[in-house]
Amino acid sequence: MKIFLDSADIGEITALCDTGFVDGITTNPSLIAKSGRNILDTIAEICSLVDGPVSAEVTATDFKTMLTEGQKLAAIAPNVTVKVPLTRDGLMTCRALSDAGTDVNVTLCFTAGQALLAAKAGAKFISPFVGRLDDIGRDGMGLIEEICSIYANYDYDTEVLVASVRSTQHVVDAALMGADVVTLPPKILTALYHHPLTDSGLDAFLKDWQATGQSIL
Ligand code: E4P
Repeated sequence: MKIFLDSADIGEITALCDTGFVDGITTNPSLIAKSGRNILDTIAEICSLVDGPVSAEVTATDFKTMLTEGQKLAAIAPNVTVKVPLTRDGLMTCRALSDAGTDVNVTLCFTAGQALLAAKAGAKFISPFVGRLDDIGRDGMGLIEEICSIYANYDYDTEVLVASVRSTQHVVDAALMGADVVTLPPKILTALYHHPLTDSGLDAFLKDWQATGQSIL
């Protein structure tokens, strides 16, 4: 399963890319706003730091302007994936950009029916928001299970990109269900490699080691 980082913060991206775990980046208008920087400069800089796909989201809501924005974002670098919302115009934009050879991430997906339409529109990625569904008392990971089954039934190439991840359990569940990608806020990626038993076990090993007076180097 691929791991993307959900961030537009260059410092965070640089630090976590150094770990070698990061296969791509997702951004959205809220994350760009939080960065306080220009979207075109930020996406260009992220693309120069990361080899994998970098999602950059359009902000228009009508097909014609979305398409123009998508073309401008796609021209920033070869690894830009244009992100469009799951609306009628967003799906039309997805079809037009995909037909022209641009990878598209269809975002803000909350039902399996929406995911079916995104696949038919040629999306490279579908982004179901599991945390936001859980927030309103729905079963976010149940949606992932449904989409994975539907895509498998018809051999759709669209990759299931689990978004709005709130916990490490979401990541494990996504992997068990065979999702293609998870996009993680930095704190969840960091939490994935932390365990209190790892920390206490390492402390004990190092204490015993120190008592031997040995050195490997
Ligand atoms: C994914 O592409 C989105 O940017 C993101 O996962 C949204 O997460 P949130 O619900 O925590 O804002």
